[in-house]
Amino acid sequence: MSNLDVLFSPYRLNSLALPNRVVMAPMSRYVCRDGVPTAEVAAYYRRRAENGVGLIITEGTGIDRPAALNEPGMPRFHGAAALAGWKKVVDEVHAAGGRIAPQLAHVGQKRSNTHPDWTPSASYESPSGLSMTGEQVGRPMSEADIADTIDAFARAAAGAERLGFDGVELLGNHNYLINQFFWDQQNLRDDRYGGPTLLERSRFAVEILKAVRSAVSSGFPVILRLSQWKPKDVTARIAETPRALEQWLGLLAEAGADAFHFSQMKFWDPAFPEVDEELNLAGWAKKLTGRTAITVGAVGLSGDVNESFAGRSARSVPLDGLLARLERGEFDLVAVGRALLQDPAWLEKVRQGRVDDITDFTPAAFAALS
Ligand SMILES: Cc1cc2nc3c(=O)[nH]c(=O)nc-3n(C[C@H](O)[C@H](O)[C@H](O)COP(=O)(O)O)c2cc1C
Repeated sequence: MSNLDVLFSPYRLNSLALPNRVVMAPMSRYVCRDGVPTAEVAAYYRRRAENGVGLIITEGTGIDRPAALNEPGMPRFHGAAALAGWKKVVDEVHAAGGRIAPQLAHVGQKRSNTHPDWTPSASYESPSGLSMTGEQVGRPMSEADIADTIDAFARAAAGAERLGFDGVELLGNHNYLINQFFWDQQNLRDDRYGGPTLLERSRFAVEILKAVRSAVSSGFPVILRLSQWKPKDVTARIAETPRALEQWLGLLAEAGADAFHFSQMKFWDPAFPEVDEELNLAGWAKKLTGRTAITVGAVGLSGDVNESFAGRSARSVPLDGLLARLERGEFDLVAVGRALLQDPAWLEKVRQGRVDDITDFTPAAFAALS
């Protein structure tokens, strides 16, 4: 393996000093009880911190809206019991020398993957009440709902800083609520939160970013996670061209995003192959905005996450291609999902060159909290 030094070089994300470039990707585990992270959850994150992960981003955790979550095992990020559970998580990660940011989530109209019959305590809410395929599945949010949701994101971010978290990430990807506002097929609103252009449909995200930014201190990192793809359409694009991407991200950067975490299936897939055969989405984000860019997608593995969800294993593979891109400065940070799910010591093994000790990813890891 070449150029490992670049992976273990420090980086500053706003005022947060990171010892290396590796971020644990947010991964829902659905094991919380009544929305409260358990001691097992705290120990699970602690193990990744003990093994040197630079920054842990937690599984999606619900802001204070009645329909923010779509799974019974997802954690909440409000209420005394859930926040006490999160405080234990932060303290354990810090005790092990790590850093951690919650992924603040509202799922919009997206239904449960694992419990189709489970429903939140209020009806699903979304920009126009439409599913990805255009059926009316819920109610459009009123302006009052929108205002309270923006405020709930800000309250959660302020709470995260108070609890001692090292930053926050906003779930703006994968067809969850913020993402649904961006999408012209799901946001048909004719008020100021909708409109024919992506910039008009970005107002909801812009107002969330501004509210979050003013609720936390200026040095506190605010990461926005985005994706072009949708769960049912991996070829979907929200920004059709680099120019559209530049205008979109420019607006979001100006509103307060310190970093863009661009979800894609495989980090080596070019975002606009018709223009550049190499540059991935994080690469474009960095080039167009100069903000911190986090890449993700099959790092250290031969196959993507959808293949694993379909039950297939993925081989452990060398990091050379990733390291070459990192060294060229295409992006700043690298998020790792399944490799760190499979093995909490993955990064430490990489650092020590113990590649033979790194096992392949098997879907059995989805069921474990090891
Ligand atoms: C079990 C599991 C749960 C996930 N949950 C979330 C989540 O809560 N929020 C999110 O933005 N992405 C989620 N993802 C996507 C990952 O953050 C990541 O983008 C994806 O797994 C690709 O990275 P990988 O190829 O390194 O696994 C999840 C992925 C997995 C495997």
